[in-house]
Order: sequence, then C-alpha cells, then structure tokens
Amino acid sequence: MDERSEKPLLIFDSGIGGLTVLREARVLLPDRRFVYVADDAGFPYGDWDEPPLRERLVSLFGALIAAHDPIACVIACNTASTLALDALRTAYPAMTFVGTVPAIKPAAERTRSGLVSVLATPGTVKRQYTRDLIDQWATKCEVRLVGSVTLAALAERYMRHGFVDEAAVRAEIMPCFVEADGRRTDIVVLACTHYPFVVNRMRKMAPWPVDWLDTSEAIARRALAIVPRISEEAAIERHDDVAVFTSGIADPVTRRLLQGFGLTFAAGSVAAK
Ligand code: DGL
Repeated sequence: MDERSEKPLLIFDSGIGGLTVLREARVLLPDRRFVYVADDAGFPYGDWDEPPLRERLVSLFGALIAAHDPIACVIACNTASTLALDALRTAYPAMTFVGTVPAIKPAAERTRSGLVSVLATPGTVKRQYTRDLIDQWATKCEVRLVGSVTLAALAERYMRHGFVDEAAVRAEIMPCFVEADGRRTDIVVLACTHYPFVVNRMRKMAPWPVDWLDTSEAIARRALAIVPRISEEAAIERHDDVAVFTSGIADPVTRRLLQGFGLTFAAGSVAAK
C-alpha cells in the first residue's frame, strides 16, 4: 500500500467548530484516517491580537506536523485561516493547507436583494483578508460585517450540554438583518465553523427567512480534491480517529461528544508558545 494512504488528514480549529467540517470530510473520504485538533487552550480566537495569534499558529503547526505527519492540514477555522494561511504555507512549504474563508463570492453570486451579511468572530470581521474578498467579489452588493463575541462559545456550550440561550442567539444575529429601500438581507454567511451547530436556533430567531451559507461541505470537497482517495483494495482497517486538545484536558462531557463524532480523546497536550 502507498505510504501516503496511511497518513491522516488533520483538521484544525480553535475548538469544536471544525467538527462541522470533519463530519462532511468523513462522508467524502470514508477510508481516510483523521486527526482532529482543537486549540482549546487558545479558544476563543476571535479577540486575539493578530501578531501573537499568527505566531502561535505557526509554532503549533510545527509541533502538529512533526507529531502526526499528516497528508494535509485543513484549517477549519475562518479566524485562523484569514490570519495565518500565508504564514503557514511559507513556514511549511512541503505541507498542503486547505483554508476556510468567508463565503463572500458565492453569497454575492446568489443574492437577489444585493444585501448580504457576514456573521463571524470579531477577528475575521476585522481582517484585511475579509475586506479583500469583499473588494474582489462583492462590489455590486452591500455587505454588512457582523462580529459576534459570544456565538462560538454559545455553540460550544450547546454541543456539550444541549442548551442554548435563544435570546442571546437572537441578539447576536439581529445586526445581520438589514432593510433598505424595500430590500432585505437575503443571505447570511456563516463565517465561523462553530455556527452551523446552532443554525436551527438562528433560523428560529430570525426576523425573516434568509439563506444561511455554510461552507463545511465546500471545504471538505476541497480536501477531497487534493487528498488521494484510498482505493477499495487498499482500504485500510478502520483506525480510531483521534482528537487532540492543546490543553491536554477533556472533561467527560467533551469526551462523550467526541465519541459521538467517532473520535477518541488523545491524552497529552501539544506545545505552543
Ligand atoms: N471556529 C472558528 C472560526 O471558524 C472561531 C471560533 C473562535 O475561536 O472564536 O472562525
């Protein structure tokens, strides 16, 4: 068997949001082994200053690549991708990185009203990368950038405890809904991988129906395009996929959640400066 086929695909996020991407990637790459990495010691990424977060990511990936020898790394985090994709590619030229960036282009193509909102962490909202996407693809639309400080944490809590404060969700999404000259926002881009977990609550609390644009499947497809499929004959025995948390700690609720995603918690932390 080709040695490359044994290598895992590494999926990375600051927390459990990247599980939305893992879920889709599993469907498309059923024979591939996965390592899921959550930088929970650094969560949330949304309000980090840019230089220290970039440095942290570059240093962390040095350790992750050395420890897991992945076939490719999927940065299933908009906040990290919009900041550090270039730096990671420069630091590790032999590694393939798949990034997750706000789906501004597809939103601009699909909107009928011309009013699009991008819901993301404060970090993603302030990035030059995000502004450049708007300048490049959405000049004919009015794009409202909405930074949410709490939604990623609300989604984490919901996934662990099954509870979400609907009033808090409503308060966070309301700025996305704009009415102007008889037109209304018709697309909200979910530009944080945590948000698809609470999209049903967003739908319920929305003042009018919109398309909630989720990129997890598109990211998984991108990974499929670059990672070789393992042929039927060479299909490896199903390995246990593992989850690595940079804190080295996962409480029983988190372990159960990971199990639900077919992941075994790997004890031990990962060094990051
Ligand atoms: N899931 C991350 C993203 O896609 C961000 C969550 C956070 O660390 O605040 O942007």
